[in-house]
Amino acid sequence: MASDLQAPGGGSKATFKVWRGDASGGQLVPYTTEVSEGMVVLDAIHQIQAEQANDLAVRWNCKAGKCGSCSAEVNGKPKLMCMARLSDLELDEPVTVEPMRAFPPVRDLVTDVSWNFRVKKTITPFAPRKPDAPDGTWRMAQSDVDRVQEFRKCIECFLCQDVCHVLRDHQMQEEFIGPRFLVYAAALEMHPLDTADRTEELRQAHGIGYCNITKCCTKVCPENITITDNAIIPLKERVVDKFYDPLARLFKIYSRRTRSE
Ligand code: SF4
Ligand code: SF4
Ligand code: FES
Repeated sequence: MASDLQAPGGGSKATFKVWRGDASGGQLVPYTTEVSEGMVVLDAIHQIQAEQANDLAVRWNCKAGKCGSCSAEVNGKPKLMCMARLSDLELDEPVTVEPMRAFPPVRDLVTDVSWNFRVKKTITPFAPRKPDAPDGTWRMAQSDVDRVQEFRKCIECFLCQDVCHVLRDHQMQEEFIGPRFLVYAAALEMHPLDTADRTEELRQAHGIGYCNITKCCTKVCPENITITDNAIIPLKERVVDKFYDPLARLFKIYSRRTRSE
């Protein structure tokens, strides 16, 4: 962190270019404010809101990187504002703070992420097998439990959705559910108790084939979920095994024939 501008108390000042506007359009508006050690971008935004722009709209909740509400683009990169330390930014230049581009703007830094909640409802829900024991409990291998644990860390910040070119640049929201919901589907598909088969919906309605494994989603995940290697690639393998593996297809045809004889 470095800034040439001096604040009256001897601290330094930095300039933030904040996107102001709504669904009809907007622009970057510069605000200069005092900054000090330990501050994050959300602190600066709150200070600007308190001192210079009372009507600046910003969504946040926990300020601890856990609620997933404060997602935005800081210097063009998808970030949680409450986890974006000013000490990691070059403050000699203005810092741009913009709303997520993959979602429709509501006002200023707030976007409409409701599409994500509609998508979630389209995924076949958890369908556990019957309990293994008379007392209604199940037996599971610890390794199977561990496998899905990382997917459950998701805070639904939607930064991975924001960075995914299929949604961001090609606006294929109707055809592709995006990395967040491939993680969600993986958590269900790989759950040791689940009995549902989501391969058909992943292939057709959820458009897993549109993902070309660029790994941009994995790079921005604040929970460090290995989205591509641990969720998307195994799901793609399941789809390929089921629909494109020639041996599996032959076996299916053979089983169908022997059943009908
Ligand atoms: S790896 Fe797939 S889901 Fe992730 S950003 Fe790239 S195209 Fe999107
Ligand atoms: S997978 Fe990671 S980046 Fe995507 S919504 Fe969940 S926490 Fe955010
Ligand atoms: S305010 Fe909750 S993640 Fe940033």
